[in-house]
Amino acid sequence: MAESTLISSPAPRLRVQAMKEYHPPLGSRDALRLDFNENTLACSPKVCEVLGQISAGALTRYPEREPVEAIAAAHLGLKPDQVALTNGVDEAIHVLFETFLEAGDELLLPVPTYTMYEVYASSTDARTVTVLAGDDLAFPFDRLAAAITPRTKIIAVANPNSPSGTAAGREQLLELARRAPQAVLLVDEAYFHFHGETVMDLVGALPNLVVARTFSKAYGLAGLRLGLLAGPAELMRWVRRVLSPYSVNSLALACLPPALADRAYTDWYVSEVLAARTEFEAALDALRLRRWPSRANFVLVDIGAQHAEFVDRMKAAGVLVRDRSSDPGCDGRVRITIGTREQMRSAIAALKQTMNALGRQRGA
Ligand SMILES: Cc1ncc(COP(=O)(O)O)c(C=O)c1O
Repeated sequence: MAESTLISSPAPRLRVQAMKEYHPPLGSRDALRLDFNENTLACSPKVCEVLGQISAGALTRYPEREPVEAIAAAHLGLKPDQVALTNGVDEAIHVLFETFLEAGDELLLPVPTYTMYEVYASSTDARTVTVLAGDDLAFPFDRLAAAITPRTKIIAVANPNSPSGTAAGREQLLELARRAPQAVLLVDEAYFHFHGETVMDLVGALPNLVVARTFSKAYGLAGLRLGLLAGPAELMRWVRRVLSPYSVNSLALACLPPALADRAYTDWYVSEVLAARTEFEAALDALRLRRWPSRANFVLVDIGAQHAEFVDRMKAAGVLVRDRSSDPGCDGRVRITIGTREQMRSAIAALKQTMNALGRQRGA
């Protein structure tokens, strides 16, 4: 008799058994990468200089997060005990949920939104309550506020949101924090640099506001996995209990100060993307493709029933884009990251070729 039939393997928690595995569609990405909202070019050359100087000896040490947290806090005008560095914002979300969500609690989410909120919530014993945005994909403030209950423990708002690119207003966020004092309001500002508006200045002033930022987008450091969480010291001390002391590696820690210091580089990259977005949106309009107004480095486009073929044909033309059809309220919609103007001109050429092949070239 085979050993496996004699010994049954240990069962995970029921919630874990019910989870689906999440596989981001990475695979071969040797093309124009307009599928993950990354920086499509490079990080600051100052970061590369620092990386090149890291010695073998430095790698023998465990990473020390606190001094770099103090630098990040100073950059944001916060105190060190209000900031925790994390292994990407994904770890920040995961740790925040593990810290606050108990059985019977509710995570309140406007959808469509960033996939990982639901993934991380599904491994806790809390319930996820979703509020679907309308056809305009605008932030569904009234319905979200109406869905707050005494059990609401976290409200997670990506601002700007992905995949829609739309944003919530500062007053709306403040009002949510006021109406749910029993809950943590997580404002995920992963795309802050492209939006330019923030509630970071309210960290510490509101007892339940927590803000996340990533280095994966404008800074171009997605491969290093670096994010941060900022909140009142009284909340952050609970988060630190759950957070691994070593989850941010020493290469990422070494790169953070030069990345923050080189504002000229991020300013240049952001202005390049915003100029490219304007051109790209005009091209979408000329093709009479419906799009949603974006405050981020991507645009959601309505391709309709041919969405899967569109994504395949764009790939064949050397441009990777992301099918968001399975997101709530997003049937037929494809998200396209905005890179530089030069890259987006190639993308426009691929787009026209693809629409032609799909028999849908109109005007333009
Ligand atoms: C809204 C939002 N938050 C967080 C992340 C993940 O950021 P990180 O790479 O820092 O884990 C993404 C990535 O696409 C995102 O869209």
